[in-house]
Amino acid sequence: MTGWAVEAAGVEKRYGGVTALKGVDLRIPEGAIHGLIGPNGAGKSTLFDILCGITKPSGGRVSVLGMDVAALPAHHVARRGVGRTFQRTATFRDSTVRENLLFASYGRMRHSVLQRMARAPAWREDMAAFETRADAVLETCGLAHLSDQPAAALAYGTQRRLAVAVMLMNDPKILFLDEPVAGMNDAETAEFIALVRDIARGRTIVIVEHDMAAIGALCSEVLVMVDGAQVVSDTPERALAHPDVVAAYLGTDADD
Ligand SMILES: Nc1ncnc2c1ncn2[C@@H]1O[C@H](COP(=O)(O)OP(=O)(O)OP(=O)(O)O)[C@@H](O)[C@H]1O
Ligand SMILES: [Mg+2]
Repeated sequence: MTGWAVEAAGVEKRYGGVTALKGVDLRIPEGAIHGLIGPNGAGKSTLFDILCGITKPSGGRVSVLGMDVAALPAHHVARRGVGRTFQRTATFRDSTVRENLLFASYGRMRHSVLQRMARAPAWREDMAAFETRADAVLETCGLAHLSDQPAAALAYGTQRRLAVAVMLMNDPKILFLDEPVAGMNDAETAEFIALVRDIARGRTIVIVEHDMAAIGALCSEVLVMVDGAQVVSDTPERALAHPDVVAAYLGTDADD
């Protein structure tokens, strides 16, 4: 490892005639909580997809946790410590909170279908490890008392915490959170900020967010993107005061 959780240089992404990313550079130190902000359509989610190996870049170099993620399948990247949440929550709504965590663990279980059917020792070991991990994750995410509730019955902010819990089951070393507090009320946002601080220990966290108060509360540094290109990388306070950033956000308001 180099001390950098993310090292990206000249990242480009074209979709037919649309250039979503025009050569973005990004470096995130291990252990940082790093922000990525910018108006709608700036390319933030596209960059996240590339950093997680879900989308392949059209150009540039991308290293995450020392892996060349552009050259690896997404499931490989995920198994090696890269977690991602999406703008829209993706939990199994009819399943309980605990079952949602179990599904997240299937990829890590070492027992076979036959061993499960036979209730073999390998199955029992996997299940015991899962129960222990699930209890810890539920506790961390403030979901312990809700573990038998169907996901659909949870309040919105709680569903977003469940999405984080699902990700934590695989103990990722870096987490990409795409607009995690969007749609949350103030109390849910405050709870979520506390959760992010809690899970940041021993991990790197990258957050795309339009809620600047949340960004200011959490991030040591933010990269501002506008229209597929980076504008500035600085502390949240300085970045938001930068004339080009002010102009970009004013420009978006005027267009709306
Ligand atoms: N699969 C795709 N095919 C074609 N164009 C795409 C695709 N994905 C993204 N784009 C385009 O790339 C640009 C960047 O989109 P992206 O979703 O990354 O922006 P964003 O910064 O996440 O915006 P928002 O804040 O609204 O979530 C947009 O112009 C979008 O329309
Ligand atoms: Mg987006």
